[in-house]
Amino acid sequence: MSAALDGRLALVTGAGRGIGAAVVTALVEEGARVVATDRDGDHVEAVADKHGDRVVARPLDVTDAAAVEALVAETERDLGPLDIAVNVAGVLRDAPVADLREEDWAVHFAVNTTGVFHVSRAASRRMAGRGRGSIVTVASNAGGIPRANLSAYAASKAAAVMFTKCLGLEVAGRGVRCNTVSPGSTMTDMQRALWTAGEEESSARRVIDGDLASYRTGIPLGRIADPADIADAVVFLASDRARHITMHDLYVDGGATLRA
Ligand SMILES: NC(=O)c1ccc[n+]([C@@H]2O[C@H](COP(=O)([O-])OP(=O)(O)OC[C@H]3O[C@@H](n4cnc5c(N)ncnc54)[C@H](O)[C@@H]3O)[C@@H](O)[C@H]2O)c1
Repeated sequence: MSAALDGRLALVTGAGRGIGAAVVTALVEEGARVVATDRDGDHVEAVADKHGDRVVARPLDVTDAAAVEALVAETERDLGPLDIAVNVAGVLRDAPVADLREEDWAVHFAVNTTGVFHVSRAASRRMAGRGRGSIVTVASNAGGIPRANLSAYAASKAAAVMFTKCLGLEVAGRGVRCNTVSPGSTMTDMQRALWTAGEEESSARRVIDGDLASYRTGIPLGRIADPADIADAVVFLASDRARHITMHDLYVDGGATLRA
């Protein structure tokens, strides 16, 4: 039986760890070849080593438009036409607005929004010319609900979602689908960085139970996501099983935002 992504070529950003590394694994399991990229070259090499010749690792900082364009061109020259692009690279620095520094604000938009623009532009241009392709952006449920101390992060993710929808509208007539996956709390380094050091269990409990003092909802399904939960949604949207889905924002958050 053939897998959903047999013969497809995918590019993944932020693939050095966490959700990005899980997306690489899920794409490979469905038969794809993957160009796994990350700003952190060593991490992404280690991820690629686990998958043999199905995955090649390339260092890539998504804030660098010229580097993104060069890597997408190199990928198509050496490996063939790109079928799938997945934007996973992201940063999060939490602070109340009163303490938010210019550089904190700027880095969120440079990576979480402009990085998505760079990669999606380079990929969609080529995909549209061929009449097929799928772009998936990993945003955040914080882009859809106000969160204290996450203003820059949440705003940058909301912008990435709307950018991806607008692109989806532009290229729908040329066979390219563009969707977002908005995860809730997921067990990765980014999530653990928000927790009190040495108090993993109680920190996780607070995430699951919610916190009225900060108007933070809990997680009705009662667990924090594994990176693979997010990767499964990405692979679905990337595949032909989602062939009639575009401009969609798929929340994978255990119900945390009550989809209100
Ligand atoms: N973990 C969560 O709870 C959660 C929830 C919602 C959304 N997300 C989103 O999912 C994505 C992955 O998150 P994660 O939890 O795996 O994070 P992570 O911090 O564990 O991994 C993020 C990866 O992105 C890479 N990266 C950062 N800046 C980059 C840049 N300029 N260019 C290329 N790569 C860069 C990092 O090197 C790292 O490998 C992010 O976009 C994040 O905002 C995560």
